[in-house]
Amino acid sequence: MRLDVITIFPHYLEQPLAESLIGKAREKGILDIRVHDLRAHAVDTYGSVDDEPYGGGAGMVMRPEPWFAAVESIDGWKQAHRILLTPAGRRLDQQVASTLATQSHLILLCGRYEGIDERVSEGLILDEISIGDYVLAGGEAAALVLIEATTRLVDGVVKERESIERESFSAGLLDYPVYTRPAEFRGMKVPDVLLSGHHAEIERWRSEQQQQRTADRRPDLLPPDLPD
Ligand code: ADE
Repeated sequence: MRLDVITIFPHYLEQPLAESLIGKAREKGILDIRVHDLRAHAVDTYGSVDDEPYGGGAGMVMRPEPWFAAVESIDGWKQAHRILLTPAGRRLDQQVASTLATQSHLILLCGRYEGIDERVSEGLILDEISIGDYVLAGGEAAALVLIEATTRLVDGVVKERESIERESFSAGLLDYPVYTRPAEFRGMKVPDVLLSGHHAEIERWRSEQQQQRTADRRPDLLPPDLPD
């Protein structure tokens, strides 16, 4: 998968994208991730990318020209799925991430300031995505969340296929609790069933735990009750 990210803070993104699963997948050539500095396409030699809002009001608005120039400098941009990170977008969830994971090329635009000139959405953007109902200082942290949720679903990024398969099998439910050695720690014991070696019973216990936890903590995730 090819990923291009456009930001005024390229350093903010570089280290997280060099670590762990994503870093390894980049080394293996499974992910081709490039971070672009919007200021390389500034409207003047001072690196300006923003201006006062027409109609007045507080804050600055990002001008359209640098965004168009930055996107159009990316090879294959016309065929790419072009996403703006914004609190006004549709909400990112596992379903959205798995759909995005099927794309071969994503371009992510990280906004800052009070917003981006609307003509960027009109002329360049195919999809607007929010990571939740809160306002971040900019789209960079949101882009990292989207990249991590999406790329771990790309073939070859996660070594243990089983963890991905288990997630999709139990789709929509919270995970069951897990334990490792020691069998007893500060008086807290690992549930007997996990030490029993009974695979069918262990599976049943895990499934019950998932149902129970989801009902207790996130009842909104459970399918609605069927009418009588
Ligand atoms: N930019 C600022 N807040 C955001 C959010 N919640 N999701 C995506 N992009 C954002």
